[in-house]
Amino acid sequence: YGNVKKAIEALKKGEIVLIYDDDKREAETDMVIASEFITPETIRTFRKNAGGLICTCIMPEDCDKLGIPFMVDILGLASEKYPVLNKLYPDDIPYDEKSSFSITVNHRKTFTGIPDNDRSYTVEKLANMCKENRFEEFGSEFRSPGHVHLLRGTEGLVQRRQGHTEISLALSKIAGTYPMTTICEMMGDNGGALSKELTAKYAEENKLVNVAGADIINYYLNVFCKK
Ligand code: 5RP
Ligand code: CA
Ligand code: ZN
Repeated sequence: YGNVKKAIEALKKGEIVLIYDDDKREAETDMVIASEFITPETIRTFRKNAGGLICTCIMPEDCDKLGIPFMVDILGLASEKYPVLNKLYPDDIPYDEKSSFSITVNHRKTFTGIPDNDRSYTVEKLANMCKENRFEEFGSEFRSPGHVHLLRGTEGLVQRRQGHTEISLALSKIAGTYPMTTICEMMGDNGGALSKELTAKYAEENKLVNVAGADIINYYLNVFCKK
């Protein structure tokens, strides 16, 4: 578990960790940070050196306290009024049963919500609010739609779903950082996912831990959950 242990230490220090899901899944590497440590510099690194979608993963318990469901459930209810939404039902995701997308938010004190300092502020304030158990302040502090995508972790985390959402939250639980992560897919210059070789090169050049999701899943299920 050497690499997992390095990832734990890096996450605790507020560093970015690179997590690959699986050859049989998306076959993507996401940059991951514990949300409580986010800075505008993290957002800059995510958008310039990763380039995917910047999303914040939230524990199912916290989602329940905030009152936010999966987006698919919101669309299902809204389809009574807007039937086209039913026709868009995501029953054909090629790599998983269900997407973890929930709503998007901006902190009310941001302007457009997209600049590095705006997105960082939104994530930082959301992490603080949940950490301080101020869930009832969600609506007074944030507006939706916004520019930070919230992802809802599945109940039981990697026992039930093994996406970056659950893998990054599991790593955060193991590390003891507040379990809310912010992630972004690493894209290559060819427009596809960054290859494993180039990901390894990036990790080495930038002194970042590069870890396989499977190793985190094994550690979480066989070491952490058995403690
Ligand atoms: C949001 C995504 C990414 O793949 C992200 O890694 C979260 O999704 P998953 O849990 O399915 O891996 O779709 O940009
Ligand atoms: Ca995905
Ligand atoms: Zn993913």
